[in-house]
Amino acid sequence: MSNASLVIANWKMNGNRALTREMSEILRDNQADFKGVKVVVCPPYTLLADMAGHIYYDEIALGAQNVSQHENGAHTGEISVAMLQELGVEYILLGHSERRAEQQESNDSIAAKAAAVTQAGLTAVVCVGEDKSQREADKTWSVIQAQLEQSLAGLSAKQMARVVVAYEPIWAIGTGETASPAQAQEVHAKIRGWLVENYQQVGARVPLLYGGSVKANNAESLFSEADIDGGLIGGASLKGEEFSAICRAAK
Ligand code: G3H
Repeated sequence: MSNASLVIANWKMNGNRALTREMSEILRDNQADFKGVKVVVCPPYTLLADMAGHIYYDEIALGAQNVSQHENGAHTGEISVAMLQELGVEYILLGHSERRAEQQESNDSIAAKAAAVTQAGLTAVVCVGEDKSQREADKTWSVIQAQLEQSLAGLSAKQMARVVVAYEPIWAIGTGETASPAQAQEVHAKIRGWLVENYQQVGARVPLLYGGSVKANNAESLFSEADIDGGLIGGASLKGEEFSAICRAAK
C-alpha cells in the first residue's frame, strides 16, 4: 500500500513543445487513475509557458528546475522567483546533484534560493544525496546531514512548511541502479528524524521524495515504505504512459 502523495517530473534538458502537449494530454486522460496524488511537471524554462497553457485540469501543477536567489537586477541569464510565479509555477527544484556538479552550486546558494522561494509562498524542493564513493566509505548520513543543515539554513518554521526534501543517491540517477526500498527507507527515516528534531511538527510534515531510476516496475515497492512520500522522476517522466503508471503507483 502506497504512502506517497507527490510525484514530480524533472524533464532536465529534454523535451520540446510537442512533448508539453502530448504529456499534458496523457496526464489529463489518465488523471482519474491517480486522483489524490499531486503531480508536478518541471520542463525546461523555455517550455514553462507552453506547459502552463495546457494545465487546465486539477492536481497537476507546474514546476521549474532552478531559480535565481536574487529578486531582480543585473544578473544576466538568470530567472527570478517572481518571473516564475507569474507563469503559474508553484514548485522549484533546488540543488539537484547535476547542478551541484555542473554549475558548482553550493549549499549556501541553495539556502539563499530556498529562502527566496519559500518567502514568496512557493514550494522549494531541496535535493540531497551521496555519491558512490561516499556510500562505500560509510559516509552517506554525514553527507546528507551536512547538506540538510547547510541547504536549509536560516529558514523559519513557516518557510519550512513550504519545503519538500528529495533524496537522490547520485549513483542511482539515470543509471538504472535504483536504491532498494530498504536502502532508500533507511536514509528517509534518518532525514525524517533530523527534520523532527529540528523543526518538530513542521518537520514531521515535510514531504520526502525518493529519486534515482524510479520506473513503473519499481515505484510501488519504493512508495510503500513508511517515510517515502513520493518520487522525483527523471528519464521515466518523459514517457507519458510510464509516468502515468508511476503516478498510479503513488495512489
Ligand atoms: O530529478 C530526477 C532524478 O535525477 C532522477 O533521474 O529518474 O533519470 O534516474 P532518473
